[in-house]
Amino acid sequence: MDEVLSFLNLKKGGIYVDLTLGAAGHSCAILDHLQGDAHLVGVDRDAGILEFAKQKLEKYGGKFTLCHGAFVDICKILEEHNIGKVDGVLMDIGVSSWQLDQGQRGFSFRKEGPLDMRMDRSQSLTAEKIVNSYPETQLADVIYRYGEEHRSRQIARAIVHYRDRKKILSTLELANLIQNTLRYRGKIHPATKTFQALRIEVNQELQQLQTTLENLPKVLKDKGRAVVISFHSLEDRIVKHAFKNKEFWNNLTKKPVIASREETRENPRSRSAKLRCAEKLSDGV
Ligand SMILES: C[S@@+](CC[C@H](N)C(=O)[O-])C[C@H]1O[C@@H](n2cnc3c(N)ncnc32)[C@H](O)[C@@H]1O
Repeated sequence: MDEVLSFLNLKKGGIYVDLTLGAAGHSCAILDHLQGDAHLVGVDRDAGILEFAKQKLEKYGGKFTLCHGAFVDICKILEEHNIGKVDGVLMDIGVSSWQLDQGQRGFSFRKEGPLDMRMDRSQSLTAEKIVNSYPETQLADVIYRYGEEHRSRQIARAIVHYRDRKKILSTLELANLIQNTLRYRGKIHPATKTFQALRIEVNQELQQLQTTLENLPKVLKDKGRAVVISFHSLEDRIVKHAFKNKEFWNNLTKKPVIASREETRENPRSRSAKLRCAEKLSDGV
């Protein structure tokens, strides 16, 4: 948290955007440190979590604006709210624990629920559609590419074999099918990588991240900061590559910042977090 605040380099009267508002943990910390007439814009694709965050942020009165939308639409969102260029942007990508805890959203292989996994519930593609309709090779490719699961072909074959008899409808049905297929009982649940892959495919997460990083220079002021926290190597690779572009960025983290031992004790999720920050170079964008 301290690193996020220090990399954002909060200025008196500055405008900051939390593009992944979630349960507003980072936003609360930013709001606590805003000075003068500084303002925070919070964006999330998930209307449910946005409502949850709104209640948490009420105490900050008029110091923030909340917007429902995907971060890929950052330019449009700011324009619609008459917000010009901003001083800093934060992205803490992935799924929030709030979403994982809501069984009915279908993100967790530990909670019974429909195979949904949509962050924005108005879109039509769900995990259930993918699992029950993608051809076997396409399914294996998704699980391999986005889950980095080496046994993707075996899992895809088992899914297709199962769905020939019965549609796969629930999270636990899929999790048990994978567990029975891999016959592995370690610390990490055997369905972890497949669930990650399906979530990334449902929400087009990597494409969204890539396009958003390309658009950030358009919304940042000169010397404005972009801070991105990612949770797996696929995301971190995209961020690292984007910030290497010397046309737009002064890369402030040659190596990613990782959580301290104390932080991982307090928040186990931060164990695999990598933070990168870059400052926008002066230009005519
Ligand atoms: C890891 S959580 C953020 C947690 C937050 N930093 C906090 O302190 O509570 C990620 C959030 O980003 C949202 N999200 C993921 N992809 C998004 C996208 N493309 N556009 C907007 N929000 C997105 C998710 O709905 C989720 O609420």
